[in-house]
Amino acid sequence: MFYTIVGTQWGDEGKGKIVDWLSSKADLVARFQGGNNAGHTIKVDKDTYKLNLLPSGIIRNKKCLIGNGVVLDPWALIYEISNLMNQNILIDKNNLFIAENVCLILPIHKLIDEVNELSRGNNLIGTTKKGIGPAYEDKVGRRAIRLCDLNDLNNLKSKIKNLYEFHKPRLDKFKKITDYEKTFDELVNISKQILMYSAPVWKIINDAGKQNKFILFEGAQGSLLDIDFGTYPYVTSSNTSSGQIFSGTGFGIKENHNILGITKAYTTRVGSGPFVTELNDDIGDHFVEKGQEFGTVTKRRRRCGWFDSVLVKQSIAINGITDIVLTKLDVLDNLRDIKVCVGYNYGNQEYNHLPFDENIQKNLVPIYETIPGWEISTFGLTDWNDLPKNAQNYIKFLESKIEKKISIISTGPDRIHTIDRNNLLNNF
Ligand code: GDP
Ligand code: IMO
Ligand code: MG
Repeated sequence: MFYTIVGTQWGDEGKGKIVDWLSSKADLVARFQGGNNAGHTIKVDKDTYKLNLLPSGIIRNKKCLIGNGVVLDPWALIYEISNLMNQNILIDKNNLFIAENVCLILPIHKLIDEVNELSRGNNLIGTTKKGIGPAYEDKVGRRAIRLCDLNDLNNLKSKIKNLYEFHKPRLDKFKKITDYEKTFDELVNISKQILMYSAPVWKIINDAGKQNKFILFEGAQGSLLDIDFGTYPYVTSSNTSSGQIFSGTGFGIKENHNILGITKAYTTRVGSGPFVTELNDDIGDHFVEKGQEFGTVTKRRRRCGWFDSVLVKQSIAINGITDIVLTKLDVLDNLRDIKVCVGYNYGNQEYNHLPFDENIQKNLVPIYETIPGWEISTFGLTDWNDLPKNAQNYIKFLESKIEKKISIISTGPDRIHTIDRNNLLNNF
């Protein structure tokens, strides 16, 4: 059985919570793109776990894989492992496997991330400053340092030197100092701590596939941050959609592959870029407060707005989504009326999809339909029949607009605050 979890909006849809929930039945959990720009939160009773690089299955001591599609900051990984071990999560070479061919994020990439933003003037992307984009640029430019390079210290030094010299002129211009020898020494110091997890992930995952193990692929970010299909250039630097699982882990296309689209009951975005249903009013503030919409990684206040069915429908198509998981329904509890965007106006033209032109995206006017709210708490509910009629109607309305079944509903941050409407978990 193979399941992929992807975000259908601009990230932070609650992927971590759902991966953790599904992990109770999984054998393997794999990350296939992104890096420590991701911030996935898992709540179990009084404990909260924040994951950036490690697959969320680590909390349940599942076999966790970091695929080659990820860009890996080794220092961030060590820090995260140590934090989680302090929370009594076991991490060792029996449950963590990192692809030998994963590309590394080095200190220089964080500097370049900063410089890239400085050169954009008023058109900041608002990146997480983790060096993600620059590390992917070096990967595609065939200059990157990969995990397997740590095995050969002689060649490693010259590879790092070449990489740093390639970027030096631009960094000099911005008076950013780089020192390849320092990076080399620091990398050598920690190499054993990272190499102990090095493994042929493509092989482990294919062997598991042959044995029909339950494999969960954990996406990071969301479809609208996808380098190809997102709101370019205000996107991340990887393909965040489900197609990336194949090249990001080495797992081939198989039958029995279900794709769950994690979707917030409203919309949020961190960083800059077009956001048609954004609310700069009391309701937007209400979403921030009730939904605790502050970035897991950067602590930035998330921009909030109404549910945009056009975007979610588009993500469903691009990812081949089989079921939707609707999260944070409880955040809508106090509203008298709820709006849903069902199309866009641009001058005299109407759109039922998001056009790629950035200037058009910025000037689209949402077409809303209004649905009555339920004005009663749904927090923590676990049974569809306990949901107020108007909440059920809201969910059914969304299903009619996005043309996909909403099979799981999340009503709170804890793993138990979950409605398994179609009995998905029990049927595994
Ligand atoms: P991810 O990046 O997609 O894993 O999502 P984040 O962890 O960055 O952000 C989601 C936030 O919402 C986290 O703080 C979760 O604990 C919280 N959360 C998840 N599901 C729900 C829910 O149904 N209701 C509420 N109130 N909070 C939720
Ligand atoms: P999870 O997995 C929300 C956003 C950044 C910025 C843009 C590019 O927690 O959903 P980057 O550092 O990737 O080059 O930044 O992408 N971004 C996210 N927004 N959730 C995330 O991950 C994100 N990862 C990156 O805010 O706008
Ligand atoms: Mg997040």
